[in-house]
Amino acid sequence: MALKVTVPELRARKATTGRGERLALVTAYDATFARLFDQAGVDAILVGDSLGMVIQGGTSTLGVTVDEVCYHGRAVARGTQRAHLIGDMPFLSYHTGVDQAVANAGRLLKEGGFESVKLEGGKEMADVVQRMVRMGIPVVGHVGLMPQRVHAMGGFKVQGKDEDAAESILEDAMAIAEAGAFMIVVEGVPAPLAARITHAVDVPTVGIGAGLQCDGQILVGYDLLGLNDSLKPRFVKRYEAFFQRGVDAVRSYVGEVRDGAFPGPEHSFGLGPRAPEASPRTAEAALAHVHGADFDLAAAYGPTH
Ligand code: KIV
Repeated sequence: MALKVTVPELRARKATTGRGERLALVTAYDATFARLFDQAGVDAILVGDSLGMVIQGGTSTLGVTVDEVCYHGRAVARGTQRAHLIGDMPFLSYHTGVDQAVANAGRLLKEGGFESVKLEGGKEMADVVQRMVRMGIPVVGHVGLMPQRVHAMGGFKVQGKDEDAAESILEDAMAIAEAGAFMIVVEGVPAPLAARITHAVDVPTVGIGAGLQCDGQILVGYDLLGLNDSLKPRFVKRYEAFFQRGVDAVRSYVGEVRDGAFPGPEHSFGLGPRAPEASPRTAEAALAHVHGADFDLAAAYGPTH
């Protein structure tokens, strides 16, 4: 059994200052993908509220609930042995008061199997982060492009392009680090700003659409595997073309079913030892052929005549 990646280990990986290798993070939402990413050696898996778009097919992350993040968290936890597990705090689960924020973060740890939580926000969230950390809940910050503010931003747009905006994002990151976050996601900002942020805070920064000068990177797992065929933002690199490969594979299946090539003998079950060798003609005989000679049709399906 692989040893779990811990919060102190992640916190110590300030790669840009030579303290450890760069961090590689991905998002996942189920046990199978979690197993794949874990075996590939990612340092941490985020169950992002991006699940509202990637899994639920929505146009934003706003509708995701704490229950849903917990549900996907339990699945991901079952598929993960080594990677650290981060749960995303959904929109409005931490905005209406520190007590409620702590209670919801606690639910992610208790019910979702997470080992830390992530929340979007800067200075205005510092008190929330501080209380969570004091209560023993490790927090990952998220500054720059904050998808939960999509309407306020007028879309998913790169942030911090002018000096005032850049300064404000830098202050956000510093406030969140000061409040006790052990890692900070920096999303959708110019690369030089991400570099300034990385230099200014003593915890690792994890970039997405933020250039190379961060202490690590994160991508949506479906994006990096090429499972999202409809959208390819500039910051995404597809390392595979799983969507197209999946379409090709399923086309082969459809063709083989239609022309009778699947299932072959290697995918079928033989007769039991006491059954006569005969080709099945009736529905009963066909089922007995598949399930074995002792198969009791009536007991399994009820009377057919
Ligand atoms: O929700 C999410 O998947 C995220 C990452 C893209 C950082 O916040």
